[in-house]
Amino acid sequence: MRYDGKVAIVTGAGSGIGRATALALAAEGGSVAVADLDGARARAVAAEIGRAGGRAHPIEVDVTQTSSVKTMVATVLKESGRVDVLVSNAGWDRIVPFLETDEQLWNKVIAVNYWGHLACLHAVLPSMVERGEGRVVIVASDAGRVGSSGEAVYSGAKGAAIAFMKAAAREVARRGVTVNCVAPGLTDTAMLAGVREGHERLFDSITRAIPLGRVGAPEEVASAILYLASTEACYITGQTLSVDGGLTML
Ligand SMILES: NC(=O)c1ccc[n+]([C@@H]2O[C@H](COP(=O)([O-])OP(=O)(O)OC[C@H]3O[C@@H](n4cnc5c(N)ncnc54)[C@H](O)[C@@H]3O)[C@@H](O)[C@H]2O)c1
Repeated sequence: MRYDGKVAIVTGAGSGIGRATALALAAEGGSVAVADLDGARARAVAAEIGRAGGRAHPIEVDVTQTSSVKTMVATVLKESGRVDVLVSNAGWDRIVPFLETDEQLWNKVIAVNYWGHLACLHAVLPSMVERGEGRVVIVASDAGRVGSSGEAVYSGAKGAAIAFMKAAAREVARRGVTVNCVAPGLTDTAMLAGVREGHERLFDSITRAIPLGRVGAPEEVASAILYLASTEACYITGQTLSVDGGLTML
């Protein structure tokens, strides 16, 4: 199996794309740290993996808090000795026209969707660089590539994550570590249900514009993440792969 003996951390793994990624990594033999702000959800996903015969342990983490992220990484390093794969996936959003947003929303959106990646990569990369190998996949968004109405601050944070990914990829490339982004389009998760509420007509019209004619499943994003985190993708770094049914063709 592709991930036999590999140790992975997936943030935001209690739900949606992160959960699907954790399940897929474990199904392919990986040992997965199921990390989420919601400890109960992390425990439920880790238990689900265990029932399926996989290896996982739950970790409660807030990616916006450096100390919490450092503790998460130290725990995995202590228990498993290394981190082969980091999937920095945790994210959060609300649909609000930019002129109706306030600083409180800016701070939360930027903290989860940009700052969280800085904290996670800063904590994980040193051990990967030291070992001379590692795979990092950041879950960004098509909003960060083309912009999205009602998601101006989120789009900016996701765009920052993509630019950060490229610079980080350059800095660690000679140390055997790759860093890439997956940019989902509309994906059927709790986050999509939350942002869609009250904006059904907008989301229905975007769905009609998707060339493949439907929103994506979390598992379809997970399979792109697993590819970029695998040894098959060893010559790919600094790239952003949209998984969006063809909505944005860049
Ligand atoms: N669903 C979509 O349509 C869509 C589209 C583009 C990008 N994305 C991105 O995909 C990623 C996963 O989103 P999803 O749709 O699976 O959402 P989701 O809401 O189903 O899951 C997100 C998970 O992240 C966790 N989380 C939130 N804040 C956190 C924090 N501070 N620390 C740790 N964990 C935290 C939540 O508890 C939740 O379990 C996000 O980065 C999101 O921006 C989603």
